[in-house]
Amino acid sequence: MSRHLPAPPDAGLVNAVRFGTDTRRFLEGIQARFRDGTAIPIPGRAPLVLLTNPDLVADALERREDFPRVPAQGAAAMIAERGLVQSEGARWERQRSVMGPAFGSRRVAAYADAAGRRADELAGEWAAAGRRTLNLHRAMTGVTLRVATRILFGEDIGADRAEQFHEWMAVAGREFEFGLEVALPDWVPTPVSDEFEQAAAGVRDLSESLIERRRAALADGGVADSAHGDKSDDAAPADMLTLLLTAQSNPDVEMPDEQIRDEVATFLIAGHETTALSLTYTLSLLSWHPEARRQVREEAREVLGDGPPGHADLEGLEYTRRAYREALRLYPPAWAVFRQVDGDQPLGEYVLEDGSAVICPLYSIHRDDRYFEASETFDPDRWTRRDPDDVDAYMPFSTGPHACVGRGFAMSGATLVLARLVREFDVDVPEDALDELRITPTLRPVDGVPATVRPVRG
Ligand code: HEM
Repeated sequence: MSRHLPAPPDAGLVNAVRFGTDTRRFLEGIQARFRDGTAIPIPGRAPLVLLTNPDLVADALERREDFPRVPAQGAAAMIAERGLVQSEGARWERQRSVMGPAFGSRRVAAYADAAGRRADELAGEWAAAGRRTLNLHRAMTGVTLRVATRILFGEDIGADRAEQFHEWMAVAGREFEFGLEVALPDWVPTPVSDEFEQAAAGVRDLSESLIERRRAALADGGVADSAHGDKSDDAAPADMLTLLLTAQSNPDVEMPDEQIRDEVATFLIAGHETTALSLTYTLSLLSWHPEARRQVREEAREVLGDGPPGHADLEGLEYTRRAYREALRLYPPAWAVFRQVDGDQPLGEYVLEDGSAVICPLYSIHRDDRYFEASETFDPDRWTRRDPDDVDAYMPFSTGPHACVGRGFAMSGATLVLARLVREFDVDVPEDALDELRITPTLRPVDGVPATVRPVRG
């Protein structure tokens, strides 16, 4: 007989308030207490479900129709309502199939090469500046945003616009911070701030100007290959924006201008934010674990040549990749995946109530000793003892049909950026820099991450 998930001992509202005010600690408490999950009753709404068992998470994420995405509302709908990250159903299927080729193995190689070049340029800038202190999160946003725009839209947006974007993301982070609204009934509207409206308009305008330029380049009789700066040959898969614009000219495909704009806005954000966070967290962890940093440096010195690192170097960067993977476990930038329940649905030995919001908290599952030995320890070598593909509890890129389409980009690009920077610099971050993290749809530093960058000899 199916039963409901147990509720936490305190009153529903008290739990919902704790969830909205001290999310990280609350999640860890729930993770420790419940083997499978809990359903927090909320007055005036279906319960808020937190799944703590990775098998149940995987089952729910696999069943896209029973556990669909929550439709974008309020502030989230203002940026990119129809984009791939927020869409579901037939629209999602069509968009994912149109854009799929932009994420195949040749594009991954192009992304990796572009990331290697950008890391090499940044290393040059850091070396010229000598020892200095900077906001590591801002610096990593610059790297990943410029690489992503180059590979996805054919145009590196440059340092100034990347800086501006970082500011917009900080505004969005404040707007999307989890708060007491998780405990409010659905009919209570949550107002949007003026500064967020301006940031959203900025993202939309930037998206439109990127589209206009790409359209003009296509009309001109061809587009420069975004990875190498030369004319693309017919056999090479096109970048994402070219695929969208080409699909639009096919009368059988429904692709209104707003859809293209929303996809570009979506990928402007999804294409860089999590990767910038993951690099920030990995460099922070390496700064607190000098032995691991030494091993990354030694490997980078052995494998990388004099010029910019590239896709061909990845094979030799095993330790660096393990360190990155381990950082994604301890600080998964997408700390949770969100769904809702469509109709009463069985899940494992339970039944989940129609309309419940479902949170799959990757962050606390990744830190559960039932699934990871000494789970709080940063131990890159755990990934020599275990194959990440066989560990169901490890899912920084999610799982099921909506799993991250940019995973190959992130894994390859970040590995090269880490190797290149660590080879030449000590990036030192204060021990408490990640104590306060903002819980938005991603896990973000509240006020940047201060770091001292020092060139090293050798
Ligand atoms: C470390 C870096 C990254 C992390 C941790 C990450 C994480 C995730 C997660 C957890 C999801 C699942 C969301 C859901 O199921 O609702 C997702 C989806 C997605 N990611 Fe990533 N991501 C990363 C990098 C990227 C990059 C580089 C791109 C694009 C170039 C990207 C584009 C997307 C898109 C478009 C989706 C939606 C896929 C769909 O629904 O079909 N991500 N990502």
